[in-house]
Amino acid sequence: MLNIVLFGPPGSGKGTQSEKIIEKYKLCHLSTGDILRGEIANKTELGIQANIIMSRGELVSDEIVIGMIKNKLEANKDAKGYIFDGFPRTVAQAEALDVVLNALNQEISCFISLEVEKDELIKRLVKRGEECGRTDDNLEVIENRIAVYHKQTAVVAKYYEKQGKSHPVEGMGSIEEIFERITAVIDK
Ligand code: AP5
Repeated sequence: MLNIVLFGPPGSGKGTQSEKIIEKYKLCHLSTGDILRGEIANKTELGIQANIIMSRGELVSDEIVIGMIKNKLEANKDAKGYIFDGFPRTVAQAEALDVVLNALNQEISCFISLEVEKDELIKRLVKRGEECGRTDDNLEVIENRIAVYHKQTAVVAKYYEKQGKSHPVEGMGSIEEIFERITAVIDK
């Protein structure tokens, strides 16, 4: 099975590239951000709590997101493989993911980290905020999301480096160029 973690700061193109990877490799998409936005749209208790945290650009608790991922894996046992988008975001989440996958006799195949300059991240997210109105795409919250990434999430790359699975990929350029770089890593 092909199990990919697509990693990177907010706006690095995880969602955009995930869609293309899914189409090519027929994987199951597990995006914790999308699942949480679904909960918000459905006005569930979890969604109401998560909305407060997400609108500040902070991280939802490990316990909640790990539980969400377990449920999704359980519900998609027949998948050919998974692409994890926006998860894991802390070392505790990465450790929990290994435990869950091991219990299914699976493991992460590769960890792809998109590298994009801060100015470009802000440009992309501000533009999306103007066009689509995602509530966390305003300058103040974008700055905090990027700061939270550096403070709490960037360290996850080291976890996969130690396992020899980490592959940094240049995330600047056109969507197609970046996709070619990603597929070169996956196909190897
Ligand atoms: P999440 O939904 O994961 O958002 P994010 O990490 O902030 O990432 P984005 O979706 O903003 O960016 P992306 O890297 O996917 O880029 P995209 O392809 O969309 O998380 C949102 C919140 O949920 C978090 O802040 C947190 O509160 C909570 N959360 C989620 N997961 C969590 C977890 N595991 N633990 C705890 N809390 C969690 O592209 C962005 C824009 O750029 C788009 O408009 C796109 O069209 C454009 N674009 C993409 N590629 C290019 C390119 N090459 N050139 C020009 N534009 C491009």
